[in-house]
Amino acid sequence: MRRRRTVLPLLLCGFAACVMLLQSRCTGSSAKDSISLFLNHHDTVNYVGMQECAGCHQDKVDSFLQTGMGRSFGVATAARSAAKFNRQAPIYDSWNDLYYVPFLEGDKLRLREFRLKGRDTVFSRTETLHYIIGSGHHTNSHLIERNGYLFQAPLTYYVQEGKWDLPPGYEQGNNIRFSRKIDMECMSCHNAMPDMEEGSQNRFRKIPMGIDCERCHGPGEAHVAQKRAGILVDTRKETDYSIVNPAKLPWSLQIDVCQRCHLQGNNVLRPGKKFSDFRPGMRLADVFEVYMPKHDGGDYFVMAGHAERLQQSACFINSNQGSALERYDRKLNFTCITCHNPHVSVRQTNTARFNQACMNCHNTGAGKKGCSEKPATLQQQNNNCVACHMPPSDTRDIPHVTVHDHYIRKPTAKQQGNPVITGLYAVNNPKPEEAMLARAYISWYEKFERSNMYADQAKALADRQDAAVQMHYLYATGQFAKLLVKAEGLSLEDCKDAWTAYRIAVAYDETGNLLQASEWYARAANLQAAHLDFQAEYAKSLLRLKQYADAARILEQILRADPQHEHALVARAMVQLAQNKVADARAGLLKVLSLNPDNVQALENLINLYSQAGDSSKASEMQTRLDALKQRRTTSRVSSSTTPGR
Ligand code: HEC
Ligand code: HEC
Ligand code: HEC
Ligand code: HEC
Ligand code: HEC
Ligand code: HEC
Ligand code: HEC
Repeated sequence: MRRRRTVLPLLLCGFAACVMLLQSRCTGSSAKDSISLFLNHHDTVNYVGMQECAGCHQDKVDSFLQTGMGRSFGVATAARSAAKFNRQAPIYDSWNDLYYVPFLEGDKLRLREFRLKGRDTVFSRTETLHYIIGSGHHTNSHLIERNGYLFQAPLTYYVQEGKWDLPPGYEQGNNIRFSRKIDMECMSCHNAMPDMEEGSQNRFRKIPMGIDCERCHGPGEAHVAQKRAGILVDTRKETDYSIVNPAKLPWSLQIDVCQRCHLQGNNVLRPGKKFSDFRPGMRLADVFEVYMPKHDGGDYFVMAGHAERLQQSACFINSNQGSALERYDRKLNFTCITCHNPHVSVRQTNTARFNQACMNCHNTGAGKKGCSEKPATLQQQNNNCVACHMPPSDTRDIPHVTVHDHYIRKPTAKQQGNPVITGLYAVNNPKPEEAMLARAYISWYEKFERSNMYADQAKALADRQDAAVQMHYLYATGQFAKLLVKAEGLSLEDCKDAWTAYRIAVAYDETGNLLQASEWYARAANLQAAHLDFQAEYAKSLLRLKQYADAARILEQILRADPQHEHALVARAMVQLAQNKVADARAGLLKVLSLNPDNVQALENLINLYSQAGDSSKASEMQTRLDALKQRRTTSRVSSSTTPGR
């Protein structure tokens, strides 16, 4: 039995990232020692939810609920969906030979995945779609929940083109079907602050219904208590420190409020930090840094990259010169809220408002000089600055979607051709610490792009870091023997980091020391008990050590938490086989195939089981399926996902 590693960090990536992956193969100075004046920076102050704010700020709530952010997440219902359902032709993924049809059942959204052989349906799986992620401004993607575990469904509705297709990043053989975990990184950009089970990858105790006030204003408990107690502040003259008003922050912290989410690159957490640690008014780089590729020539433009693009503009650079911590001055500084009122939808915002922002600076303000284009040409565009200087662009990462390029410049300055990537940089920290940069290169190489350039940089940086970082580098580059040399001084008990333990386990495993490997898998599983994939790896090592009872116990635990955990289902069937519970094993393997018709291990074992039982017709049916699968994997390199009959 071949061991398969399930804990691939690949699955953790957001979609900008996944695209880069497709293309390739498939701090800083820490916080100023200032103590925050804001009461709600204390972690004792809780989030209270939008309905609390509504009591006193109803107008804001009403208009905000019509914005994309206010509608970013919700229960999947026909009413909420932006999609068309009637007589939808199946979407065909030719790489996997699977069809997808979304349909309504009452008010429920459902998704059927199936495979045809001639006119017969040889496989069919139907799932209820529980949540919609995406307001429908650009897309609706869909999530499935099992016991609080969230997964993405393999079908997205692209509103601007009015069509269904595979989700971004699932094209060209990368359709991972129902297995993509929706983790904290993803949820914390698309929702009010979620409550995730500590240590789990994708289990949420409570799933909020869309981005809310407190994502830009910070937790509201202290503010609500003070206002209810009649403690008021004259906010025209003073700052109310019970809540954060972004407009009163220095410009760099204003940008941080928005780029917490509007900057999708490789997010690297500072040691000991979590995605839920950032609160508006804090310095983002104190919680995580966002790395993106540096490039020469060409344009590198991803969907959730507004903050990076804007910060390249001469308007931004020249307006915000001087200390980042200078007091905010609306006339001098330039941030997202110079143009946007986040409580009002951009769709309801008149273009005149945006153009007025340009004019405020370019007529008389900081920008001073006006447009150098011929007046007649300007007239033709009705003097609409935005139309020429912030045009809509296709994004690099999301198919069928256009957004506005926030890199404001002369249209003539736009660079043609493909960008040449020269390395990584931290968008939100001009001087990142070397340890952070090292982590950025290692994880970039590991998750997004396996090129030598990243590996070399990662090595040079990692050599100067502590053992954990060095081990991460050696793990990412598959140098397992060297990793074990680094691990020599570290005892199981002294290792407090689950990922380090897991990497050591894999290194032992890859170098043939199963006994040690199992102990380190156990350590990872103990340190992060809710991490089902760590548990599954540990159980599989016990299976290989023939400790069947212990393996079975852990696998049952996993399956109680997530009854469809594919690796655990396969492993349990293997344990049952070893224990001679043939009927149970067969039922288990058939269940695996009902979820994933292409699970090779299940097919192979069923061929054996049926042959042994003398059922040659079933055995040959399984064999045919296995052959077809192998055939498809070698030949389906040419075409990509298409919709038949279009
Ligand atoms: C009981 C009434 C009440 C509730 C509930 C309430 N607020 Fe306020 N809020 C006020 C009042 C009154 C002011 C203006 C006077 C002041 O700040 O003392 C204010 C001011 C603010 C300000 C401006 C602060 C500044 O310095 O400019 C923000 C931002 C704000 N509230 C956000 C919220 C959010 C977010 C919620 C929900 C978590 C909320 N409020 C709940 C009454 C309330
Ligand atoms: C918690 C993460 C988060 C924060 C913080 C955040 N945004 Fe957003 N924003 C999003 C997401 C996600 C969307 C897309 C929502 C959708 O359409 O589904 C979005 C959409 C938008 C839109 C377009 C949608 C519309 O209807 O208006 C604007 C404009 C915008 N954000 C501006 C801002 C500004 C300005 C800030 C800072 C003051 C900010 N955002 C802070 C996550 C965030
Ligand atoms: C760093 C924050 C961040 C992460 C992580 C992230 N997104 Fe987004 N995503 C955004 C922002 C911001 C937008 C809006 C961009 C815009 O409107 O131009 C967006 C847009 C989208 C949209 C389109 C919404 C619409 O209708 O306009 C979908 C769907 C989506 N993301 C899904 C996901 C999923 C699923 C994941 C995780 C697997 C994910 N995103 C990870 C920030 C993020
Ligand atoms: C995407 C970020 C964002 C979200 C979400 C958000 N706000 Fe704001 N809010 C801001 C910004 C930025 C300002 C400052 C606007 C300005 O003065 O230019 C502000 C200002 C305010 C103010 C004080 C100034 C004023 O205009 O009255 C109140 C009160 C307020 N918000 C309440 C709310 C409430 C209630 C919600 C939830 C319904 C909410 N905000 C959601 C970003 C946000
Ligand atoms: C907060 C003030 C401010 C705002 C608002 C602003 N700009 Fe600018 N802009 C500047 C400054 C400052 C410069 C640099 C001027 C210089 O180089 O002398 C600049 C430069 C430019 C340039 C020249 C860029 C280059 O690379 O030479 C263009 C084009 C431009 N702005 C267009 C716009 C447009 C269009 C808008 C509205 C969408 C806008 N600006 C909004 C301040 C601003
Ligand atoms: C100079 C003015 C200006 C500034 C500053 C600005 N935006 Fe925008 N933004 C626009 C315009 C114009 C649009 C297009 C509105 C429309 O669709 O009519 C837009 C649209 C958006 C959208 C909707 C998706 C899209 O691209 O059409 C998002 C999200 C957004 N902006 C986020 C941000 C964030 C985050 C910042 C700060 C990092 C920011 N914007 C700063 C002018 C600005
Ligand atoms: C029809 C398209 C168009 C419109 C509308 C337009 N611009 Fe321009 N703008 C251009 C082009 C093209 C250039 C570069 C011309 C050149 O190469 O000298 C430019 C240059 C500029 C510059 C740089 C000037 C310099 O001397 O470097 C600024 C600033 C600017 N525009 C601001 C604006 C503002 C503000 C508005 C709205 C009032 C606006 N533009 C409307 C096309 C346009």
